[in-house]
Amino acid sequence: MDFAYRNGALCAEQVPLEEIARRFGTPCFVYSRAAIERQYRAYAQALAERKALVAYSVKANSNLAVLALMARLGAGFDIVSGGELARVLAAGGDARRVLFSGIGKSEEEIEQALRAGILCLNVESEAELERVDAVAARIGTRAPIALRINPDIDAKTHPHISTGLRQSKFGVPYAEADRLYREAARRAHLEPVGIGCHIGSLLADPAPWIAAAERVVELADRIARAGIALAHIDVGGGIGIRYRDEPQRSIDEFLGGALRALGTRDKTLIVDPGRSIVGNAGVLLTRVQYVKPGDARKFLVVDAAMNDLLRPALYDAWHEVRPVREPQAGVATAVYDVVGPICESADFLARDRVLAAHAGDLLAVMSAGAYGMSMSSNYNSRPRAAEVMVDGAGAHLVRRREAVPELFAGESIPAW
Ligand code: LLP
Repeated sequence: MDFAYRNGALCAEQVPLEEIARRFGTPCFVYSRAAIERQYRAYAQALAERKALVAYSVKANSNLAVLALMARLGAGFDIVSGGELARVLAAGGDARRVLFSGIGKSEEEIEQALRAGILCLNVESEAELERVDAVAARIGTRAPIALRINPDIDAKTHPHISTGLRQSKFGVPYAEADRLYREAARRAHLEPVGIGCHIGSLLADPAPWIAAAERVVELADRIARAGIALAHIDVGGGIGIRYRDEPQRSIDEFLGGALRALGTRDKTLIVDPGRSIVGNAGVLLTRVQYVKPGDARKFLVVDAAMNDLLRPALYDAWHEVRPVREPQAGVATAVYDVVGPICESADFLARDRVLAAHAGDLLAVMSAGAYGMSMSSNYNSRPRAAEVMVDGAGAHLVRRREAVPELFAGESIPAW
């Protein structure tokens, strides 16, 4: 739909990817504006009947054009660094809709967030509670805070992206929550406004997500009985997408569960989705450099690499690879590993794929809109890829390809 063949050519909306490669080169991330909007609206509509905020998780894709689109649609933002806050503000986002998560906020970041007037700092430890109080006191303000609760629930996803178990580094233990809320309420420069959790990412099954929401709602009730009324409940992000053929339940099923957990309580429901908004709205466009028949395996060496899309190397993640020219029936195929030029055996984008490809052909690595560019690096001194946003029949360069001199522009050689 957003990425489909038209007359034999894979297109982003109405624009052939071949044309994008010609204009902007490869490797290149290509996003569909319509797809991003549709996913955002799925959230907004499911929550339309009550006080709610969809806080887009910036880490999934932090390109200014994506953030500006979100801001225009009325989204809030879930951030994890001062850098992300600066991006949100540069894109025209409203600070009053920003939630700041993360376990290692520096004093500078806390001050930056308080001065910007964000909605809430999601505090993840007692030490951080004290630091936020101290910073707020120093600059003469009251810091709106929520505690991120670790609900000790198994998200049943990849261990690297599971965050809600007791042994995880995230959140404050469930059993500590009452004491810490009382502590926060006692301090002159803290104002408890909410409560939150986030149990992990790429969840296929709503059950653990809903169970976490129920635990947090229950806790909010208990805290209310202690005289601390919280305005919002943040049930996190983490709703998965389909990369291959995994069963994936709808956003409505997840949100329906959270809405049921909240019942008639007069609180704002906050969700912070990232991947499910942008993941399937982007592809990584790459060109085959060489076809390399190895002894044991055949390789397609492409011009994108693990520095552009780290997920296969890091999580063994599966991304579909589609030829940009629609394959003709009966054409000879072979089984290939699609690999990049980086000097690491982990530098692969896909393994064991049946493809008919030749040097010079274009391939699209699908579902690369989330945690693609935002996790990219300059490893092997490779400039970062370009990013293009397609809107109907138009293609807009939203980040130009990095130039090699930029890679070392900040470096200097001492006068030994
Ligand atoms: N809220 C919090 C507090 C988070 O830590 C995260 C993601 C999200 C929301 C958004 O989760 P999402 O809706 O995108 O699943 N790099 C990994 C994913 C790491 C997710 C980290 N936290 C990947 O490529 O699969």
